[in-house]
This record gives sequence, structure tokens and C-alpha cells, in this order.
Amino acid sequence: MRQRRSRCSRHFEAGDPQVSQAAQRLFFALWPDSSLCKALHDLGQRMREEAGGRVVAANRIHLTLVFLGDVPVTSTDGLYAVGDALQTPQFELELTRTGVWKRSAVGWIAPGTLPDALEQLVGSLRRHLVDAGFAVEQRPFKPHVTLLRKVRRELKAEQVDLSYRWIVDSFSLVRSQTFQTGPAYTSLRTWRLNQTG
Ligand code: 2AM
Repeated sequence: MRQRRSRCSRHFEAGDPQVSQAAQRLFFALWPDSSLCKALHDLGQRMREEAGGRVVAANRIHLTLVFLGDVPVTSTDGLYAVGDALQTPQFELELTRTGVWKRSAVGWIAPGTLPDALEQLVGSLRRHLVDAGFAVEQRPFKPHVTLLRKVRRELKAEQVDLSYRWIVDSFSLVRSQTFQTGPAYTSLRTWRLNQTG
């Protein structure tokens, strides 16, 4: 029987060495293809000249859909079932707005408008996760791709022209592990979005 994440989580305490074996830090995300990752990384380097901080490596660039935090390994099949159940269409995402969040000290790029299909994907993911017993943040979804961490200053430019059409045709369940060299992300499973037209 599938267990509720919140119930399982109580068995583990922060700092318990068993946590790393029994739970994994997971999130659902959109992963750009390598050419968009490179374009975004280059933009991150230009933003860094103004805002300071550290540029996110090209192979770590992504857009988080739902952050799950530490999830018991035994719940992974439940998350695969959630991914399998989604039936949402492909869409195009135009990243045009840049900015800095002072509190988290990140520099980001975001879509100028929120496509209905992206809202639908996140809404549907959240609903299926809750129905399957997973704890999900109810904060409004703020789609963004983090390009800089530990920024020190504001950015002047708020609009950029990447001249890139991101056709979002899949989403992934991703594991995050923290190493001395920084986070390492591993895609556990990827699902195709429905083709439109
Ligand atoms: P960020 O890009 O805004 O830093 C993997 O850690 C991903 O999950 C990152 O993209 C990060 O978003 C997001 N993330 C990390 N901790 C989070 C939290 N507590 N709430 C929401 N998203 C989080």
C-alpha cells in the first residue's frame, strides 16, 4: 500500500545518517535541451557581470514545477504513477524577464506570460500528488529558471531577447544530491507531453 509522505517523513530526523539511504530529495522539473542550456548559461555569465554571484552550470539549468523535498525511497513508485497519470499538452515557453530575488540571492529568467498549458501541468501535478498522499506546497507557482546564486546586486535590465523558442515537450522527476562541488541532478524518469494539433 502506498504511504503518505508526511507520515513516512516522521520516521526520519534531520541529521540521522539513515536519511540519506532511506529518503531522496526530489522535484519535478522542465529540463531545456543542451543548446538552450548553453544560451541560458551564457546569459547567466552576462548577468553576473552586473549582479555578481555564481553562475549555475549549464547541465544544472532547469525550471522547477513542484519541489517535493526529502521523499522516502519507498514512495518513488507512487511518484512514477503520478507522472504516468498526467495528460497535458506540449507548449511553448518564451523566457523574456530577468530579475533578482534578494532574499534567496538568486538571479533568474522567467516567462513573460504564464502559458495556460504550464499552469495546467503544475495544477494537475499538484492535484495528483495530493490525491496520492504527498505533501505539496500551496504557494502560488512562480515559474523561473535560476541562473545565478549568491547574487550581490540588483540587475538593471529586466527584459532579454534570447531569440529562442523553447518547445516544452516533456517533464522529469529529478533527484538532487549535494556534494562539496555543488548539487548533482539525476533524472529518474521523463514523460512526454501530448502533442497538440
Ligand atoms: P531555485 O531554482 O529557485 O533555487 C532543486 O533544488 C530545485 O528545487 C531548485 O530549482 C530550487 O529552486 C527548488 N527548491 C529547492 N528548495 C526549495 C524549496 N524549499 N521550495 C521550493 N523549491 C525549492
